[in-house]
Amino acid sequence: MQLWNKGFEPDKMIESFTVGLDRELDLRLARYDVQGSMAHIRMLESIGLLEKSELDQLLPALQEIADSIERGEFVIEDGVEDVHSQVEFLLTAKLGDIGKKIHSGRSRNDQVLVDLKLFFRDELRRIADGVERLFNRLQSLSEEHRDKLMPGYTHLQVAMPSSFGLWFGAYAESLTDDMQMVVAAYNIANQNPLGSAAGYGSSFPLDREMTTELLGFANPHYNVVAAQMSRGKTERAVASAIAAVASTLGHLAMDVCMWMCNNFGFVKFPDELTTGSSIMPHKKNPDVFEIMRGKCNRLQSLPNELTILTANLPLGYNRDLQLMKDIVFPATTQLIECLDMADFMLAHIEVKEGILDDPRYDYIFTVEDVNRLVLQGVPFRDAYRQVGLSVQDGTYRPTREVHHTHLGSIGNPANGLIAEKMHGLLAQLK
Ligand code: ARG
Repeated sequence: MQLWNKGFEPDKMIESFTVGLDRELDLRLARYDVQGSMAHIRMLESIGLLEKSELDQLLPALQEIADSIERGEFVIEDGVEDVHSQVEFLLTAKLGDIGKKIHSGRSRNDQVLVDLKLFFRDELRRIADGVERLFNRLQSLSEEHRDKLMPGYTHLQVAMPSSFGLWFGAYAESLTDDMQMVVAAYNIANQNPLGSAAGYGSSFPLDREMTTELLGFANPHYNVVAAQMSRGKTERAVASAIAAVASTLGHLAMDVCMWMCNNFGFVKFPDELTTGSSIMPHKKNPDVFEIMRGKCNRLQSLPNELTILTANLPLGYNRDLQLMKDIVFPATTQLIECLDMADFMLAHIEVKEGILDDPRYDYIFTVEDVNRLVLQGVPFRDAYRQVGLSVQDGTYRPTREVHHTHLGSIGNPANGLIAEKMHGLLAQLK
């Protein structure tokens, strides 16, 4: 039976089409639904819409449901529309009329909103934890390999000397930019929609400051229509944060695939972290990083998928909004898996030393040699031409000395400053 039953049963076809997969996705909201209900009924009691004795029965009953959720025993039964209905049915089955009182001044529209906000806060914190672990790994690899040179490329042509210190450190710093997006999404999620009811508020004197405080939100969504509008806005912010991290991670995965290619051979992994071929007995393939690249590419389509789903929806609640769960819920899990896998793999990465000693990289030193002439007083354009002509006529011989200040002995000069920046951002999520 539906919460909205008023004397007729909807057709079975209607039920499976409108609920579908949502029941399973809603399980991830269950603990937050109970948390939201606890705050709501405390507030109802404070404004006289529930008796103290009723609250004293409802809270332990909700706690029992919360415990069953943590034990993994909570299910949304067949024929029950969603998590919100299941919790209310359980309460009513246990406490009768008292259970039926908890929905005063509330709609499933603000109920699902508050569940989602609490859920996204936690998911963003978990994403931030994964980013932090990978960041720390990259920074320590950057320090460990700061002096090991590797080629830098532009247009995929050998360009200038780079180093493993720079390469690892670049991805660490890039993650600080992505963390800005995670923090922004967190701040957007961290606002209380409860009390907006169906999207236009309630005539009861709901104490929205009280639920804001009980649920640990930074502030309420003050305008009840804006609260309802945040369904979609929050998801798009989360999706942008996910896409930002995924773009960094996908790029890193691509580099590793390339550096693992036999024609480069810059990095390798222990045998047990590679995969094989059913026909070619010698293969040690980078499937992990290919899957990571593919998953991260797909994750970058998230903001697009949400835009296509929600662009130009009429103001107020529309059921289309439910479908955002299909898009965003699996994505947070996938991103966290990719972050954890990247950290696991990089813990075992082996990097090649002395790459630039190979004559195939001789031309990588031309800019160094131009700069050396400049330091001796030759105008840059003349020095450039002199070295260029020697490359053309085959007489160029590299001096192989690299003295960029950002390479060699100091690797990435700013690792400490970058770490401070990351820690400042992480502190905003505590
Ligand atoms: N499953 C619904 C959702 O995610 C819950 C809200 C239902 N509200 C409604 N007016 N039908 O949006």
